[in-house]
Amino acid sequence: MGNISQRKRTHVDVCLEKDVEMMWTTPGFEEIFFVHEALPEINFDEVDLETSFLGKELRAPLLISPMTGGYEYGRKLNMVLARVAEEFGLAFGVGSQRAAIEDPKLEKTYQVREVAPTTLLVANLGISQFSERGVEEAKRAVEMIDADALSIHLNPLQEVIQPEGQPDYRGALRYFRNICAGVGLPVIAKETGAGINSGVARKLVRAGASAIDVSGAGGTSWAGVETLRESPRAHLGRTFWEWGIPTAVCTAEVARSVSVPVIASGGIRSGLDAAKAIALGADLVGVALPLLRMASRGRKAVERWVERFLQEMRLAMFLTGSPDLKKLKKVPLVVTGKMRDWFLARGIKIKLRKSGGPGG
Ligand SMILES: Cc1cc2nc3c(=O)[nH]c(=O)nc-3n(C[C@H](O)[C@H](O)[C@H](O)COP(=O)(O)O)c2cc1C
Repeated sequence: MGNISQRKRTHVDVCLEKDVEMMWTTPGFEEIFFVHEALPEINFDEVDLETSFLGKELRAPLLISPMTGGYEYGRKLNMVLARVAEEFGLAFGVGSQRAAIEDPKLEKTYQVREVAPTTLLVANLGISQFSERGVEEAKRAVEMIDADALSIHLNPLQEVIQPEGQPDYRGALRYFRNICAGVGLPVIAKETGAGINSGVARKLVRAGASAIDVSGAGGTSWAGVETLRESPRAHLGRTFWEWGIPTAVCTAEVARSVSVPVIASGGIRSGLDAAKAIALGADLVGVALPLLRMASRGRKAVERWVERFLQEMRLAMFLTGSPDLKKLKKVPLVVTGKMRDWFLARGIKIKLRKSGGPGG
């Protein structure tokens, strides 16, 4: 097994077996409250989760975030997740395709189109491995899986901590711009659990990003994964385990700063979290770790998890009188505690009251 395949396998094993999430940093949703509507005036059974994203229709605003591929068990996990994405009308992202760019024999570990013919399929590569040949590699990644879009991940924290890392970000934005101009498909810029702030989001959009996946702090910690993998730089991983901008904060600030669609990911663990992310301005939510764990138990487990998640979203929408996602985006929110401090510090304004409320 090649070096990259081995590393991808260890990452997945660590994520399946160990506690890789942040320990006290949360994505912040517990401090974002909806205002309950005792007279919703809609039918729960008709709450509509449909949306469109980058030109494709989705039956629910959920992306199975990029995670795996590059070795045999990764292929199995990808197949399970892609089948469920097709069945539920979700979007699906494969993990970094770097391993197959370097060894074409591994291409089949990412190829899921056969079981997901109508799914919005997203290719994935990391920014820090790009060079002047970036456009060519990006095109290969897209063709390899017959993708509808390409996501490019930014992971400066992990690149420093992992022994194989390439923590040289000079020229990264230029490479990103070249890829957006040359790949011929929408490009999503994403983090991997430390978040994207509004200034970075604006730079990425000016460079050609068609969507931003904030992937904020509060869920899987890549500093944590590298620490648990016993990387030589584990001491850095321990200190920076909780590093990043909480997902609720980056979702709200990025959605207010750019006009392209925003994906909220990083610690989204329930349909209620997802509904709050959408009310804060996201167009889609992304989930990684819980779906990886369900996929390791098989297709039925993933289906049950997705069903429960979508029911929770529908209930949050019913109880806020939101028949569809457009309405959900307009409901009032209350922000308390540490999140309120973050929102104030970052200059994020949210609508506190809608007409018809007390005094409104
Ligand atoms: C096992 C595993 C592998 C991952 N590999 C990738 C990857 O190859 N490319 C990428 O963009 N993000 C990758 N991620 C990051 C996720 O897409 C996501 O941004 C992050 O885990 C936060 O979401 P979560 O808290 O729901 O796990 C990976 C996550 C996990 C758990």
